[in-house]
Amino acid sequence: MTILSVNINKIATLRNARGEDYPNLLNTAIDIIKFGAQGITIHPRPDERHVRYQDAMDLKRNISCELNIEGNPIKKFIDLVNEVKPAQVTLVPDSVDAITSNSGWDTVANYSFLKDIVDNFRSNSIRVSIFINPDIKMLEGAKKINADRIELFTGPYAKEFIKDKHKAIEQYIKCSEVANEIGIEINAGHDLNQNNLKFFSDSINNLKEVSIGHALITESLYNGLEPTIKSYLEILK
Ligand code: PXP
Repeated sequence: MTILSVNINKIATLRNARGEDYPNLLNTAIDIIKFGAQGITIHPRPDERHVRYQDAMDLKRNISCELNIEGNPIKKFIDLVNEVKPAQVTLVPDSVDAITSNSGWDTVANYSFLKDIVDNFRSNSIRVSIFINPDIKMLEGAKKINADRIELFTGPYAKEFIKDKHKAIEQYIKCSEVANEIGIEINAGHDLNQNNLKFFSDSINNLKEVSIGHALITESLYNGLEPTIKSYLEILK
């Protein structure tokens, strides 16, 4: 079964736009879980322009489902994650001013750096996922680092899907086959939506989790949050 983890950064962006507490992030997360999503993902950036560090604390205290915290492991982020102790941390190499994550780790060049961080989080019983491009070298690097999972960056898949879905999925299938062979679990995320998700999840064996934010929240503007989440769950069945 593939679980749906809803990325709620967009809700935080909406809240921050008015400098008030509306929409309330925690209540929205609770509703998202009530509507059937099995996980909540947040990506607190160092400037806290969407989700704030305090949100991570509040969510951990008040939600029962899996919490996934994504981010670049600068010291402030590492301290936050170790304090909040979510079920999963996803390491993403985004720069401070990046609009959104746009590439995965080079797990070979960053072996020592990542290994120390992965060891640190795992010793605190936090599952570690490493965000990578669909590249077998990077996948093998993630395994060597001892990460529990990889998150496949699906941005390139989503772009190519519009032109040629079979070509778009090729490299992801190859990666998933190697991942299943060498024993590292698979997550995926970025630019997934109701058009491209089914083909992706049907093509990838043992896909553990997808994290979806931008499209899901955008589609909810037209169809409502509850029906939209239910549609995603139906796709993932
Ligand atoms: N995975 C990672 C590592 C991300 O940074 C993001 C966006 O914050 C997502 C998944 C979700 O992408 P989207 O908002 O396009 O669904």
